[in-house]
Amino acid sequence: MSNDYLFLRACRGEEVERTPIWIMRQAGRYMQEYRDMRAKHTFLELCKTPEAAVEVTLQPIDFLGVDAAILFSDILIVLEPMGAKLAFHEGRGPVIDPPFRTLADIEKLRVIEPEEDVPFVMDTLRLLRKELEGRVPVIGFSGAPFTLASYMIEGGTSKAFIQLKSLMYKERAAFDSLMTKLAKTVIKYMNAQIAAGAEAVQLFDTWAGILSPHDYIEFVAPFNKMVLDGLNRTVPVIMYANGSATLLKHLKAAGPDVMGIDWRINLDDAIDLLGGDIPVQGNLDPTALFLSREEIPKRAKEILDMGKKAPGHIFNLGHGVLPPTDPDNVKALVDAVHELSQK
Ligand code: CP3
Repeated sequence: MSNDYLFLRACRGEEVERTPIWIMRQAGRYMQEYRDMRAKHTFLELCKTPEAAVEVTLQPIDFLGVDAAILFSDILIVLEPMGAKLAFHEGRGPVIDPPFRTLADIEKLRVIEPEEDVPFVMDTLRLLRKELEGRVPVIGFSGAPFTLASYMIEGGTSKAFIQLKSLMYKERAAFDSLMTKLAKTVIKYMNAQIAAGAEAVQLFDTWAGILSPHDYIEFVAPFNKMVLDGLNRTVPVIMYANGSATLLKHLKAAGPDVMGIDWRINLDDAIDLLGGDIPVQGNLDPTALFLSREEIPKRAKEILDMGKKAPGHIFNLGHGVLPPTDPDNVKALVDAVHELSQK
């Protein structure tokens, strides 16, 4: 049965014969096969066409031999049916124009009905389950409310997040209203993914690490708790935030099954901070993949050794694989983790 997958057993903290590995952004521009698909379709077309999204999801499964597939989509996909205008501009990343900066803007937003508003995501998951049954499990995902709010308020990617933090500090009612709508959407969206066949889900709170622990607890933690409490907990839930070394125990308080760890903290220190009782996922610096193919296994070994302290370890990068990465180096990492962790 599919519950026996190595990745799922590691998520549950069960005995495993080797450490499973998958890679954040494992489908993407570092692969020639992906760039060929992108020459024919825009990014949003790929996300909204189940057959294309399935093809792209499978590219790294076939090439890398990773232990889990992640749905090909984007965290920002749910924002369109909520009422935002979303575009991806070449070289500039995502743009939300106009941005949401007042209570009046936010009141116009709606909570989505996933099967009606983003049916292509659930269709992609159903197709992926058929394709991958008996091979690897399928991970679904969503952005967390705060990370989604950051794009809505800033209008795109940001460096200092001045608009976001200004609204959060000065317009508490507007900020809370946005976070509540986003949390309700995320709950429905992730539960719909689980119903469509996602065998694990990851909540990306990529930008939570821009907050002090005080502000995370004050403004964000209640909404992450709301999300995790609202999920149908039949599959493992992974919580990931980038740059989150100082927030780990607060992120854990929301109640995930697995904690994703970025590379700015040694994995063994992260495990200690978390209390040593929760499986971890991570945490090689994505830039380490620019090292030689002799060096990469040494880096992998260090992390595998540190990961032994936790009740379960899923190997991953500390953030997404970078577009200029040599695909053969990514493959060298996957092979090294498979060989070095074999019991
Ligand atoms: O991990 C996977 O392989 C699954 C697919 C996936 C994508 N985005 C595909 C994508 C996932 C899980 C995401 C999550 C995502 N998207 C996050 C959270 C994780 C993280 O990386 O921090 C965030 C913040 C986004 C928002 C987003 N989408 C940005 C900022 C960008 C532009 C930056 C960039 O890398 O170009 C995207 C675009 C995007 N999402 C691409 C892919 C493959 C590149 C699109 C292209 O082909 O041009």
